[in-house]
Amino acid sequence: MTETKKRNGFASGIGFILAAAGSAVGLGNLWGFPYKTGANGGAAFVIVYILCVLLMGSIVLVAEMYLGRRAQANPVTAYAKTNKNLGFVGLLVIVIPFLIICYYSVLGGWTFKFATNSFQPIEQATNSSPTFFGAFISNPFEPIFYTLIFMLLAGIVIMGGVKGGIEKASKVLMPILFMLLVIVAVYCLFLGEGVGKGLDFYLNPDFSALGFDGVLAAMGQAFYSLSLGMGIMVSYGSYTGNEIKIGKSIAMIAIFDTLVALIGGLAIFSAVGALQPELLGTDALGGVTLMYTVLPQIFAQMGSFGQVVSFLFFAMVVIAALTSVISLLEVATQFVIQKFKIQRKKATIILCGLCFVISIPIAWSVGGAFDGAITLFGFDLLTFLDEMTNTVLMPVGALFSCLAIGWFIDKSTSVKQRINPMQTFRALEKDGLEIGGFGKVFAFMVKYVGPLLILFIEIFGIRGKILTNGTHYWWVVIFSLVLIALSLAVYLIFFKNSDTGCNLDELVIEENAKKE
Ligand code: PHE
Repeated sequence: MTETKKRNGFASGIGFILAAAGSAVGLGNLWGFPYKTGANGGAAFVIVYILCVLLMGSIVLVAEMYLGRRAQANPVTAYAKTNKNLGFVGLLVIVIPFLIICYYSVLGGWTFKFATNSFQPIEQATNSSPTFFGAFISNPFEPIFYTLIFMLLAGIVIMGGVKGGIEKASKVLMPILFMLLVIVAVYCLFLGEGVGKGLDFYLNPDFSALGFDGVLAAMGQAFYSLSLGMGIMVSYGSYTGNEIKIGKSIAMIAIFDTLVALIGGLAIFSAVGALQPELLGTDALGGVTLMYTVLPQIFAQMGSFGQVVSFLFFAMVVIAALTSVISLLEVATQFVIQKFKIQRKKATIILCGLCFVISIPIAWSVGGAFDGAITLFGFDLLTFLDEMTNTVLMPVGALFSCLAIGWFIDKSTSVKQRINPMQTFRALEKDGLEIGGFGKVFAFMVKYVGPLLILFIEIFGIRGKILTNGTHYWWVVIFSLVLIALSLAVYLIFFKNSDTGCNLDELVIEENAKKE
């Protein structure tokens, strides 16, 4: 058997790039980025955002992809291979995506509903009637049904494996997503007079509107959008061999992700400027309100053609969310297969089942079903989990990725090399860390700049949230700390001295199953 045949992973570089880009391109690009750009000084924000992607995002992206690549294994094994005690980080970044699936799928389900609902007769104006969204999400059954459909779609892809599922699906879905995006954006750009006003608001640089909060928002957005700090790029990276170049792949993923966000903003702000200009500069243009209330109304204003635009748009958002959930699900699935030596199918069913059960109270909570009885410290469950994972825990994961590569990995190279960081990185480059002539820059960034900037995001991010939400936000922090402590305890007690598996295990498991 040749080396590639023996490896369990992506068959081609482009397959890997599309899968990773599929993870990166998600709801954050379409309802986070445009809004934050508009609210924080337009092009001024975009410039800072691009700097964040270049200076921090891509550094962590390289670190995580390389962590996976060099271990050819799930995140627990991957982090533990830089230092045995760091294996708990792997466990943490497997639990984080698991929790995200539970609420991201609820949002995916809503989007699915809006896509299939696009062709309702205009007179009924289902999607766009002001009460429709509220009534839909507070229904105790319907959102759960759509969450299930969404999760099943992700589960089916994951069951197909890395090559036959994730790679194949990404190769079909990502080009479709991009095409839909371009069609919708071009259509919106030609909606008439107000378009200029919308675009002016979106992109006209205003550095005075940027401020400290804007810079912080750009940093956080860059991490979130690139799916960093959650094991995803470690897991996907582990499915690549040295024939897939890290530097080139990272550049493509970051460019694609940023491009989709920018074009998404063009579409949204053109449409808002042309059809609902009074909303420019208001909070209605972000998140859930934008997606499920404002945009459906705008589509309805486009007349019967609006139904087609609505369908194309929501289909695109479904794809974006789906490929993100696929990546989240793979992280946990990979670990369960390798640690517990069970078949992929079984692992997927167990994980999807668990996630679905947890997603039910989340859907009820965020929809306000049962008179809004389900809350946690004054937050709905979706917001609580979203804050835990994205504001508090994601920087922790990203920080440890930098530390693992920048500081701890030295242990596995010789002591002599440890004295000179550049020599360490030369050794790593031979080991498949292909980053062109940027070795020196990377070494410095991943050791010093990255960790400091991430600490900055962590501290000021939490501080900002406490200032806007009040002291009950501390509960989010406390729960996150408990989760970190639990990961540490479980790892030290159960996993540290046992086999946490690698990618080859899956091939052996499937082969044994065939023999039986
Ligand atoms: N990157 C995705 C987005 O922009 C979100 C995401 C984060 C997906 C983390 C998976 C993991 O929406």
